[in-house]
Amino acid sequence: MQIIHANYELIDILKPLTNIAFVPTMGNLHEGHLTLIQEAFKKSKYVVVSIFINPLQFNSNEDFKKYPRTLEEDLAMLKKIGVPFVFVPSESEMLDPLQTVEIHLPQIAYDLCGKFRPGHFEGVAAIVNKLFNVVQPEMAFFGKKDFQQLFLIRELVRQLDSPIKIMSVDTVRHEDGLARSSRNSLLNVEDRKKAPQLFQTLSSMKEKAIKKSLSFSEIEAFGTQSLNAAGWIVDYLTIRSSQSLESPVRDENQLVILGAATLGSVRLIDNIEFCIHD
Ligand code: PAF
Repeated sequence: MQIIHANYELIDILKPLTNIAFVPTMGNLHEGHLTLIQEAFKKSKYVVVSIFINPLQFNSNEDFKKYPRTLEEDLAMLKKIGVPFVFVPSESEMLDPLQTVEIHLPQIAYDLCGKFRPGHFEGVAAIVNKLFNVVQPEMAFFGKKDFQQLFLIRELVRQLDSPIKIMSVDTVRHEDGLARSSRNSLLNVEDRKKAPQLFQTLSSMKEKAIKKSLSFSEIEAFGTQSLNAAGWIVDYLTIRSSQSLESPVRDENQLVILGAATLGSVRLIDNIEFCIHD
């Protein structure tokens, strides 16, 4: 396994290769990342995993500092599963203090998580775009847990005419339904037991939407009240079009319920896709 720290070095190493499959991460690797990597290996033997904790996508320095850093364990895990290239750039390599060029994202980047984490998606887009330019992959793999991120990255490559194929991978869950996330390790024992309530609430909202027993806004209110009553602070629980992330228009049937809520001091996100048949 080659561990590369400098952009120019990675560009040189990857230059002769084609069909590169790229998995960008912020480290603290778990089953969700391993699934992305397994999917990448199904498409290519040239898998590149990046590990960069991107300060631009955190809203507060406190949140950035408390992000779990487990580089040694991550590298051991990647070596064990035979990843050939791991890119671990330094902050100075990725962040140019003189950079003035910015990416303006579509309006939906300022809704949902973007509304509660100002600047988050601009930070994601800035780094993902740089990583794409350095790695120049054929395809890049993203998890559906970060549904809005996935949507915006698809928009980024579409609007910039990038040839990179964006591959989405289903959310990997613990047995109790909690979506795998690096943030789960920040939950205390009691909150870890309660954490599956987010997915349970999304699932019962989905059931109600399919049964058409309540309006979407009543279902959203039901979900919010249930989680608030269980001690969560809900940022949003909303039923949207899975194609546009906007509120569904009449008769739209490809839907997603997206949720973000905080338990203790840990903010979790999750979502569930579904179809409504007539
Ligand atoms: O999903 C993540 O881990 C990050 O947002 C990403 C895509 C690696 C960009 O920093």
